[in-house]
Amino acid sequence: MTTKIAVFASGSGSNFQAIQEAIAHGEVNANIELVITDNPGAFVVTRANNFGIPVLELAPKTYENKAAYEAKIIEYLKEKDVEWVVLAGYMRLVGENLLAAYENRIINIHPSLLPSFPGKDAIGQAMAHGVKVTGVTVHYVDAGMDTGTIIAQGAVDVIEGDREGTEARVHTLEHALYTSTLKQLFEQ
Ligand code: GAR
Repeated sequence: MTTKIAVFASGSGSNFQAIQEAIAHGEVNANIELVITDNPGAFVVTRANNFGIPVLELAPKTYENKAAYEAKIIEYLKEKDVEWVVLAGYMRLVGENLLAAYENRIINIHPSLLPSFPGKDAIGQAMAHGVKVTGVTVHYVDAGMDTGTIIAQGAVDVIEGDREGTEARVHTLEHALYTSTLKQLFEQ
């Protein structure tokens, strides 16, 4: 059975695109029913439009609180029969209602070897710390900041003094690791 997923993203959406391309090539047995962004106008919207995938652009500030914002999200996810939530550059903690609605069915990708460098700008944090090796982690999402059970990791050599080059390596690995992890998850 093809797994119905939603991808949440706040920015460029290169991971979303890698996942969609892997699906289109028959590598991942899933269908992206919906893209949700908390950042209306983000480049991920253009990417989703290019693939003809429905996008929901929500501005959290226009809701009374996180519960109301996520209630709207849950409504759309249920309407589309979404089974799994895939966070791909979604820069927001998931609240308790959404976690409860998708228990053990929300995953995230983070640009570091967790538990090192959780939170924002993980690549910048790693470079500022002077580590020689950083990487990428795919993990289940819990209520903490990048604290859920780790599913897969991969390492990247830092290019000293070259943020852009290091970031490019991280992104390349992210795209490969996320698609291979999703392939395995949805085969079971
Ligand atoms: C990715 O590097 C992802 O790991 C990171 O945001 C970037 C989004 O890129 N996520 C986090 O830092 C979450 N804590 P993309 O929009 O091109 O996929």
